[in-house]
Amino acid sequence: SRYNIAVLVGSLRRESFNRKLATALARLAPQEFTLKQLEIGDLPLYNQDDDADQPAPTKRLKAELQAASGVLFVTPEYNRSIPGVLKNAIDHASRPYGQSAFAGKPAGVIGVSVGAIGTAIAQQHLRGVLAYLDMPTLGQPEAFVQAKEGLFDEAGDIGPNSRKFLQGWVDKYVAWIRHHAK
Ligand code: FNR
Repeated sequence: SRYNIAVLVGSLRRESFNRKLATALARLAPQEFTLKQLEIGDLPLYNQDDDADQPAPTKRLKAELQAASGVLFVTPEYNRSIPGVLKNAIDHASRPYGQSAFAGKPAGVIGVSVGAIGTAIAQQHLRGVLAYLDMPTLGQPEAFVQAKEGLFDEAGDIGPNSRKFLQGWVDKYVAWIRHHAK
C-alpha cells in the first residue's frame, strides 16, 4: 500500500470493543491504505534502565511505527484517562530521548466506551501526550463512540446508525494522513 497506518489499540481484552472498532474502521479506508494493529501486550513494563538495549518487543514496535505513514490510536477510557497498557507502549516507543518513533507522524484519536461520554476524557489526555511527542493530530471531527447494541453488524462492520458518521471520520483522517505523510 501507499500508506501504512500503525494502529495502537488501548485494550488487551479478547472481546475488546476498541479492537472491533479498529478492525471495522480499517474496512472504511480506501484501498491505498493498510491499517495494521500492532501488538503491545507483550511489552514489559517500561524501565529506563533498558534504554541502551531495549527489549525485543520494543524494538519491533518502534520499527513498525517508524515504517508507518501515520498512527491511529483506538482506545478505551480507564478511570478517566488512557489505559496503562497504552501509556506503557507510548513510553517504550518514545525512548531513548531523541530517538522517538513518533516524532512528526500524523495521528488520529478515536475510542469507544460503555459510558455515555465515550472516551472523551481519555482522548483529551492522549492529545496532550501526542502534542508533547510532536505528532500532528487530527482535531476535527471528534469521535466519541458509545458501545450500544447494533454498533457492529454481524459481519463486524459498523452498523447502519453509526456508519455515515464514522465513514466521515475516516475520510477526514485519511485526508489528514495524505496531507502530512512524508
Ligand atoms: C472502565 N470503563 C470506563 N468507561 C468510561 O467511559 N470511563 C471510564 O473512566 C472507565 N473506567 C474504566 C476503568 C477500568 C479499569 C475498566 C476495566 C473499565 C469501562 C470501559 O468503557 C469498558 O470496560 C470498555 O468495554 C473497555 O473497552 P474495551 O476493552 O471493550 O475495548
